[in-house]
Amino acid sequence: MNENIVWHNYAITKAQRSEQKKHKPTILWFTGFSGSGKSTVANALENALNQLGVHTYLLDGDNVRHGLCKDLGFTDEDRVENIRRVGETAKLMVDAGLVVLTAFISPFQSERDMVRNLVDDGEFIEVFLDTPLDVCETRDPKGLYKKARAGEIKHFTGIDSDYQVPTSPEIKIDTSKNTLDQSVQELVAYLKQQQIIG
Ligand code: PPS
Repeated sequence: MNENIVWHNYAITKAQRSEQKKHKPTILWFTGFSGSGKSTVANALENALNQLGVHTYLLDGDNVRHGLCKDLGFTDEDRVENIRRVGETAKLMVDAGLVVLTAFISPFQSERDMVRNLVDDGEFIEVFLDTPLDVCETRDPKGLYKKARAGEIKHFTGIDSDYQVPTSPEIKIDTSKNTLDQSVQELVAYLKQQQIIG
């Protein structure tokens, strides 16, 4: 970083911003294979939280790659940079007092830990979508596994690109066993138990 760039403290703090909300600012970090249910569960949870009056924002891999990260591909280096940008964005949203949901494969433990360390203790909840790869591949909602198996897509997670299973996620969900409603209820119950929402 340029030595002539100096941090400027704001007049209003995160605590003051979040006092105006009925919840604690937090990142709910969904991680898992393509097709594991990250976007589906995160969307349904955002809907449920919205109905409870929680101020949320959802950052989703496919969407962020249309703008903020549209210059990035799927090499390990690009995935690292993708998660770095998303982590910094989520941190700003936490500073603004929001409950942020993120849905990214985020295949590397080091990058998930990097985001965890960007925010204060208790503000990062790792939600591992522990849906088996064969189930994700059978679902293949976008036809991408088929293309990856045919060699038409390189560096596809689970096929020829690594996914590091989370070592100690706060929550694990297997969407081949849970209904969508059960997954949402489990997450809402966790947020209440942790007093993140009322
Ligand atoms: S990462 O690893 O966190 O940087 O990936 P992410 O930003 O979440 O983007 C994943 C979505 O991109 C589509 N896609 C691929 N995924 C994995 N590997 C390769 N090579 C690839 N190419 C395109 C795919 O639709 C992913 O969306 P999800 O929602 O995970 O299915």
